[in-house]
Amino acid sequence: MPGAHRTLGTGGQLLLCYSALGCILASNPLIRFHNVQKTFGPKVVYRGLNLEMHRGEVLTMVGGSGVGKSVMLKMLIGLLKPDAGSIVFDGEEVTTMKERQLARVRQRIAMLFQSGALFDSLTVGQNVAYGLEEHFQHKMTRSEIEDRVDWALSLVDLPGIELMRPADLSGGMRKRVGLARAIAVRPEVLLYDEPTTGLDPINTARVNHLIMGLQERLKITSIVVTHDMKSAFTISDRMAMVHTGRIICWGTVEKFRASTDPRVHDFIEGVAPVKEDVETLLNA
Ligand SMILES: Nc1ncnc2c1ncn2[C@@H]1O[C@H](COP(=O)(O)OP(=O)(O)OP(=O)(O)O)[C@@H](O)[C@H]1O
Ligand SMILES: [Mg+2]
Repeated sequence: MPGAHRTLGTGGQLLLCYSALGCILASNPLIRFHNVQKTFGPKVVYRGLNLEMHRGEVLTMVGGSGVGKSVMLKMLIGLLKPDAGSIVFDGEEVTTMKERQLARVRQRIAMLFQSGALFDSLTVGQNVAYGLEEHFQHKMTRSEIEDRVDWALSLVDLPGIELMRPADLSGGMRKRVGLARAIAVRPEVLLYDEPTTGLDPINTARVNHLIMGLQERLKITSIVVTHDMKSAFTISDRMAMVHTGRIICWGTVEKFRASTDPRVHDFIEGVAPVKEDVETLLNA
């Protein structure tokens, strides 16, 4: 249930409704990965990815670098095809969709790319308007597009920079412009690939509040890929950890904190055999 641990009280009746609703929602996930397999040549990224998420929740994906988090997001919107398995969005199989159907999916699921993926030849305003023009070409007037661009840039605390070029922005600003572009289309689902990497603590908090605000006010469902455990614990309804081609832990923040799996515990605590590795290298 979206935001349940943050917003619901503890009245018995309420809990009863919550649990009944939870059962209904659980049987009808918005997104479902089932036994998804993906390789790149000899590199096995997923050997059996199973994951469900429900309308309105914030799911955070964590896991080491290179385990396949970005690949998972790209498979969901059809930018990459799995070798086997099923990916269902709102009752429809994505893996077999043609480009035209995928375009409709991408209208409903927007993605903030890890790199920001801005077009350097366009202004910031044109970048933010890009998805609007692509998806709503004949449905929005020029002034409606301008208003929406202004709204999206204000949400990420960058109002009035429409005429600047991406090359003139700092890394953190580029990231937030990428976020504004994803939000501008008012998607049902937002995929955030490392939304706070490279941001200072104030902007990290701002982006976290924005993710939660979009969930609460616009009912946007979010998948957030992050290495930032503090942010993950702040924003998540549920978390999932990817390791060696599978989800090895899935559940609430409380479940993650209580996990006795050393791989989960070490990741959360930032414990890694780095010291030994470095010492071995230095002694070599
Ligand atoms: N288009 C591609 N062609 C070949 N290999 C790819 C491609 N995309 C991803 N990979 C490989 O798949 C693996 C998973 O990549 P992915 O980008 O999903 O990692 P990640 O978990 O997002 O890592 P990070 O936290 O560093 O962003 C990596 O080994 C990567 O090199
Ligand atoms: Mg990545």
